[in-house]
Amino acid sequence: MKRKLLVALLLCCLKSVYCQSVHVEDNFDRGWLFARYGSQPDGSSKAEPEQVFQTNFKDADWRQLNLPHDWGIEGPFREDLDGKTGKLPWRGIGWYRKHFTIAPSEKRKQFYVDFDGAMANAEVWLNGHKIGERPYGYSSFRVDLTPHILLGKDNVIAVRLNTEELGSRWYPGAGIYRHVRLVKNNPVHVGHWGVFVTTPSISDKKGVAKIDVAIDNNTSKGQSISYAAEIYQLDANDKPGKKVASSSKQSMQLAALKSQTGNFILDVSQPLLWDIEHTNRYQARVLVYVNNKLVDEYRESFGFRTIQFTHDNGFLLNGKRVQLNGTCNHHDLGALGAAMNIHALERQLRILKSMGCNALRTSHNPPAPELLALADKMGFLVMDEAFDCFRISKTKNKNDYACWFDQWHETDLRDLILRDRNHPSVIMWSSGNEIPEQYSKDKFYLFAEMRNIIRKYDTTRPATCGISAPNKTAFSGVELNVDVHGMNYASGKGYGGDGLYQRFLDFNGHEHLPGYGSETSSTISTRGEYFPGRFQVSSYDLTEPGWGSLPDAEFKELDRTPAICGEFVWTGFDYLGEPTPFNSDASVLLNHSTLSPEELEKEKQKLEQIQKSRPPSRSSYFGIIDLAGFPKDRFYLYQARWRPDLPMVHILPHWNFPNRIGKVTPVFIYTSGDEAELFLNGKSLGRKKKGQYEYRLRWDSVVYEPGELKAIAYKNGKRWADTLVKTSGTAARLKVTADKTVLKADGVDLVFVTVDVTDKDGIIMPTAKDTIHCSIGGAGGIVATDNGDPTSLLAFASPVRPAFNGKLLVIIKAKSGTKGRCRLLVKANGLRSAEQAIDIR
Ligand code: GAL
Repeated sequence: MKRKLLVALLLCCLKSVYCQSVHVEDNFDRGWLFARYGSQPDGSSKAEPEQVFQTNFKDADWRQLNLPHDWGIEGPFREDLDGKTGKLPWRGIGWYRKHFTIAPSEKRKQFYVDFDGAMANAEVWLNGHKIGERPYGYSSFRVDLTPHILLGKDNVIAVRLNTEELGSRWYPGAGIYRHVRLVKNNPVHVGHWGVFVTTPSISDKKGVAKIDVAIDNNTSKGQSISYAAEIYQLDANDKPGKKVASSSKQSMQLAALKSQTGNFILDVSQPLLWDIEHTNRYQARVLVYVNNKLVDEYRESFGFRTIQFTHDNGFLLNGKRVQLNGTCNHHDLGALGAAMNIHALERQLRILKSMGCNALRTSHNPPAPELLALADKMGFLVMDEAFDCFRISKTKNKNDYACWFDQWHETDLRDLILRDRNHPSVIMWSSGNEIPEQYSKDKFYLFAEMRNIIRKYDTTRPATCGISAPNKTAFSGVELNVDVHGMNYASGKGYGGDGLYQRFLDFNGHEHLPGYGSETSSTISTRGEYFPGRFQVSSYDLTEPGWGSLPDAEFKELDRTPAICGEFVWTGFDYLGEPTPFNSDASVLLNHSTLSPEELEKEKQKLEQIQKSRPPSRSSYFGIIDLAGFPKDRFYLYQARWRPDLPMVHILPHWNFPNRIGKVTPVFIYTSGDEAELFLNGKSLGRKKKGQYEYRLRWDSVVYEPGELKAIAYKNGKRWADTLVKTSGTAARLKVTADKTVLKADGVDLVFVTVDVTDKDGIIMPTAKDTIHCSIGGAGGIVATDNGDPTSLLAFASPVRPAFNGKLLVIIKAKSGTKGRCRLLVKANGLRSAEQAIDIR
C-alpha cells in the first residue's frame, strides 16, 4: 500500500514538473461582475458610487457575465440616439470586477493581464491599487499584477470604462469587448510581444529566419542566462509538426530589472512559402534558461513570404503580381455588436473569401488579434490601420482620437506593430484614414513622423495612409511622406476622376511611389430592394454618394492603370452606424474640408432635410453584404471580377412584382463570362457582350410579366454558366439552413441558421416580411436574430423578428458546459414551420 502511494506521489510530482508550463496564458474571460453607471439604456442616468475599485466594494448584486461583452449591443435601439453610431445606448460608465485566487505554490511567478481591447478610457486596479490605463479602446494592452497580488486569498481586479463623451463616426461598442488573458511566467522571461521573426532571405533551397528577442529580468539581481531558438512547421489547426531548425544555446548577461535583446539566424531548408492560396506557416520558439533550467518558452507563428509594392507593376507576393481585391471593414460583427467572437469573424471572412476578396483593411483602427490569426490561416492580405484622425478631430464633440493623440500616438502605433508584426498576412501599416492634416502643408510632417515610428519597429513593411480627395492630395506633397500612397475615392467624380491613377503615377517625383485605392466605391444599396420604400436604397447598384463611385467606375480605372496595386472597397459588410444617405449627422457630409462655401451650403441644406425626415436608419448601406451576412447583388459583381475562373452568372432583380405587370423593369446580369443571353418565359431578349470597360450586362427596357428569367453566360464563345429566377407563389413555408450541425459546448462556438420564406415549391419569396418566431429547446440558446434591414429598431436579442426580403438569420450558442442536442423551431402565421437539430458536444 505504502509503495503504491509512494509511486503515485512520485508520478504526480514528475507529472507536475513535466507539465508545469513555464509560460501560461489562461483564458480570463469567465466570471466577471458588471455594473453600469452614468447613461442608462433608457436615457436616464445613474450616479456612479465612489471607491468602486476597492477590494471590499459591495458587488454581490452585480450582473455576472463572461467576456467579451459589449453593453451597447444589448439595446434597446432608441430613435432619439444618433444614427451615425447605431442608435444604440453605448454611452455610459461601465465597471467590471473579477474575484480570483492564485495558489501559494505560484509564489515566485509574475502575473499579467492582457486586454485585447476595452472600449474606452480603461483604468485598471488590482486590490485597490491602480495598475494601468489605456484611453484608446482599440489598442491591446498589458497590466502587471505582480506587485499587488495576494497569494491564496481573494484578489479583485476592477476595470472602469467610460464612453460617456467618446467621439466616434461609427458604432464603437462599449465594454471589455475583446478577450482577456491571465499570463503567468517566471521573473526572467521573454518580454511582452518580445519576439520578432523576419525572413531576410528566401530561396527554394533555403529560408533564413532572423529571430529577434527581448528578454526581461524582473529580479533585483543580475542574471546570467542562456537562450535558444527552434522552428517547427505549423499545420492548418495551429498544431506544431516537424522541427525544422534549431540553434545552439547562447548566453546573455541581464542586469537587474532590465531588458536585453538578442537574436538568432536560423536556416530552414526548402521553406514552404506563405501565400493567399497556400497558407504555410511556421512556429518559432524561444527557450530561456537560468542555471540550465528552462524558465520560459515563448511561441510565435510566422511565414516565409516576400512582399514588394512597385510603381510600375503593382503589388508582388513572392515575386508574383497579386491584385489587391480588398474590402474595408469596421470591427462590429452585426447583431453581436463589437463583442469579439472568432466564429462570427471567421464566417465573415469565409463569405468574403467566397466572393474572391483577398485583402482586408482594418478601417480605421487596430483589429482584434483574431482577425490577423484568421487572415494568416485563410489567406488574406491585411492593411493594418491605427487611427481615424491625428490631432484635428473629426467628430462634433471632439472627443475622438484627437484628444489622446499627443500623449498616446507613439505608444498606440508602436503596440499595434509589436503585436502584429509576425503575421505574414500583414503587408502594410496604415497610420490613418482621411486625416484632416492632409490638407495643410505645414502639417505634412506628422505623416513623416508616423512613418518614422513605423520604421523604428518594423522596416519590412511599408507605411501608408488612406488619403482622401486625391484630386488635390495625390499631388500636394503629403503623398511623399508615405512609402505606398493610398488614395480614397480616386475614381469618384467628387474628389477623384478619370485617369487620376495614371496622373498620379506619371507625376514628377512619383517615379518610385506605388499607389492603390485605399478606399473605393461606397456604393449604397439595401438587399432585395429594387423600387425601394422609405429609407431604403435600390439594389440595382446605381447609387453612389457624391464622393464615391460605382464599382464599375473603379474597375475601369484599375483596368486602365494596371500598375496600381488594387483596391479596398468601402465596405465588405454593412456595419452599425453611418447610415448614409440617411445619416442625420454631419460627420461625413460636412467633413470634407475641400468643399467650396457654396458646396458646403448645399450639403448643409441636404443635411437639414435628412434631419427633418427623422430617419430610423441605424446601420450602413455601404456593404456588399448586409449586416446579417446575406450577400446583396453587388456581391456577384465583385465575384465576377475577382474570381474570373469561377463559372457564375447572377440575375437581378428578383421576379416578383405583381404591381409592375406591363411596366419597364430593367434586368442586369453579373457574370464571370464575357457574354450572356437573357430569356423571359422562354423568349430570348437578346445576347449581349461586355464591351471594353463594361462589367455588367443590362437589359434596360424589359417589360415585366411574371414567370421565369433565365440567363445563359458564355466565355470565349463557349457556354460558361446559367441561372434561373422564377416568380414565386405565395409564401407557404419556412426553410432552415444551418452553417453546421455540431456545436461545441464551450459557450463560444456559434451556429448561423438562415431562414428562408418560400412558396409551396420551395422557391424563395423575395419580398416576404412575415414575422418569424424562433424558439429553441435543449442545451442551446438563441443569441441574436437579424434580417439585414438597416431601419429595424428591434433589439438583436429578440427571438421574434420579421423576415426581410425573404430572409432571417438566427445565431445559436450552446449553454456553456451542457452537452446534448438542441432543436431550433421557426414558425410564422399561416406558414409551414421548420426545425433544425444541432448536436452539442
Ligand atoms: C470615407 C471614410 C469612411 C466612411 C466612408 C463612407 O470618406 O473614410 O470612414 O465614412 O467615407 O463613404
